[in-house]
Amino acid sequence: MIKAIFIILIAVLFASCNSSKEKNTTENFYDKLSEQMSILEKKTANPTKVPRTITPDGEYRLVGYTDWTSGFSGGSYWYLYELTGDENWKEKAIENTLKTDSAKYMTSTHDLGFMVYCSYGNAYRTTGENKYRDVIIQASESLITRFDPVTECIRSWDFNKWQYPVIIDNMMNLEMLFFASKETGDPKYKDIAIKHANKTLANHFREDMSSYHLVDYDTITGQAIKKQTHQGLRDDSSWARGQAWGLYGYTLCYRETKDQKYLDAAVKIADYILSNLPEDRISYWDYNDPKIPNTYRDASAAAVTASALYELSKYTNDKYFVQAEAIIKSLSSDKYLAAIGTNKGFLLKHSVGNYPANSEIDFPLNYADYYYLEALKRKRDY
Ligand code: GLY
Repeated sequence: MIKAIFIILIAVLFASCNSSKEKNTTENFYDKLSEQMSILEKKTANPTKVPRTITPDGEYRLVGYTDWTSGFSGGSYWYLYELTGDENWKEKAIENTLKTDSAKYMTSTHDLGFMVYCSYGNAYRTTGENKYRDVIIQASESLITRFDPVTECIRSWDFNKWQYPVIIDNMMNLEMLFFASKETGDPKYKDIAIKHANKTLANHFREDMSSYHLVDYDTITGQAIKKQTHQGLRDDSSWARGQAWGLYGYTLCYRETKDQKYLDAAVKIADYILSNLPEDRISYWDYNDPKIPNTYRDASAAAVTASALYELSKYTNDKYFVQAEAIIKSLSSDKYLAAIGTNKGFLLKHSVGNYPANSEIDFPLNYADYYYLEALKRKRDY
């Protein structure tokens, strides 16, 4: 009897030792990320702008509220605050969130979800303060001015090259519209999000659930007239970040509607991605680049994919959790996660912004860091 009690005591002691060791390791890891991001935050202190990436000359590329990436700094700092509990990050998060305030009136871009929801959405989720919520509602109001009942889509860009261009990235901006309907009780935002998601599902995907980057619609008939790429290798190729946007987008559409067709789409997109990942689980910038393996990885696509897979696995099975873990493990290795003091303070190395435009190739990007931190938070809270 005494021997049995002794064995149980030892086992309990051993288990609690192990779990506190694990907790310490994780906390140390968050502290390291925090230290690295402090470098970035201090070196880029600016009253209106945030760091997007590094220029080829090794300078910071700072952007104001009109840039599609303006919401990611505030958003990243909110996640750091949640991961570390450090009040200093809350202060920085608020400061950087406020920088995107004027975006709420913009009607010339579809990127308002990225710009406003990643900053103000996290501000409201974390603090519950109504002043943040009101900005999101105004931004949603601005975003729905870009919806057209004939095409049943939100227009992505206003460049003249197309009649009515819609890019797969636009799926990410729907999350804010679902939020606006829940908060106001007015279904108009959600109805638009659903129409956009349905039309995109009908036209953006190929048989294997890889997606076109851009679909152009005829404004008279509402029919798709052109399917092509803008940031990918070819019209018929699979641009890695586009696949990630689609996966994340349909996973969130399922969360918000519980419509099975969105979950089915997300699962098929995930399976396409997973069956095309290289051994270290970090995608090349375009899945069809014939130069693979001698071409660039896109850590941003990997971070978005990992974050989406954590959520998808909650609605499906552990397979996606295991895959998310593998991506995060790889992103957290020396190959992709910068050593403290390097990479000018950005967390992840090796992302690709716009390869065909020869822009931001193999650079750090603020949205890679944002989705990496989001994935880490989803992992922690799983
Ligand atoms: N939404 C723009 C991009 O993914 O590059």
